[in-house]
Amino acid sequence: MKIRKAVFPVAGMGTRFLPATKSIPKEMLPIVDKPLIQYAVEEALNSGIEQIVFVTGKRKTALEDHFDFDFELEDMLQGKYKKDILESIKRVVPETGTIIYTRQNVPLGLGHAIWCARDIVGHEPFAVILADDLIRADKPVLSQMMDVYEEYQASIVAVMEVAPEETDKYGIIDSEKVGERVSRIRGLVEKPDPQDAPSNMAIIGRYILEPEVFNFLGKKKFGAGGEIQLTDAMEMLLKEKKIMGYNFEGKRFDCGDKAGFQMANIEYAMDRKDIRDRLKPFLEEILTLCKS
Ligand code: UTP
Repeated sequence: MKIRKAVFPVAGMGTRFLPATKSIPKEMLPIVDKPLIQYAVEEALNSGIEQIVFVTGKRKTALEDHFDFDFELEDMLQGKYKKDILESIKRVVPETGTIIYTRQNVPLGLGHAIWCARDIVGHEPFAVILADDLIRADKPVLSQMMDVYEEYQASIVAVMEVAPEETDKYGIIDSEKVGERVSRIRGLVEKPDPQDAPSNMAIIGRYILEPEVFNFLGKKKFGAGGEIQLTDAMEMLLKEKKIMGYNFEGKRFDCGDKAGFQMANIEYAMDRKDIRDRLKPFLEEILTLCKS
């Protein structure tokens, strides 16, 4: 079955980025000149997704405005500025009706946010993208995962190796390798202490999920951090259905973390000729100062 819908949970509090996220959603923070959520939406559309489902919450109206047509802005830019600026504004807006919004009225956790999209998704496999996991890849990671889904017809989670001392920041899998980049998951645990972690393969914010996951999310079991965790629902799903891990091709930036966010900004800026020529000598100067 084709993966047509992608759910974007964007109702989190973004506490690690306060005070910046007091009135601006974390997903609207820019990497160079594009908000994180736009990279994520572009990844989905470039992977063939037809319907975008945003699970929003309080103080998230900027997200809705970002993906909406702005007549006044376009009119003002018309003829006054470079054509490419106007084009970049127009490109943001997907065809009308492509985005559906629902609201998580209390941020009870990622699992709960996804559950809020249950009736919009219905009974079909769907994708989940966490915009704060930004992944640079030649082929969009979601598209890579769709290929794996086609082969295995099972839920797929993106995974990558992390430092063993960092397992308590991630959902961690216990798995058995079945292909070059694919493994069959035997167990999942949310944020285990390094001494209890079954491996150092961490779940990253891209999923293809079978709709049965909603039955388990609906149980509203509170887990790590007092939140309703997706990992716990997947652990329950695993008793009934196969779940595969996919070690994706690409470089991931944890933009929910301050250091990761800065790294993404530097790498994406260095990729832009107009910025690189000024940024490179500046970075070299800073590095020299740090050494001395
Ligand atoms: P995070 O765990 O990064 O939480 O959520 P957060 O609230 O965004 O940020 P911090 O940790 O307080 O700084 C991962 C993803 O899940 C969404 C977030 O918006 C983010 O995209 N989420 C999280 C929800 O939609 N609802 C929730 O209740 C929790």
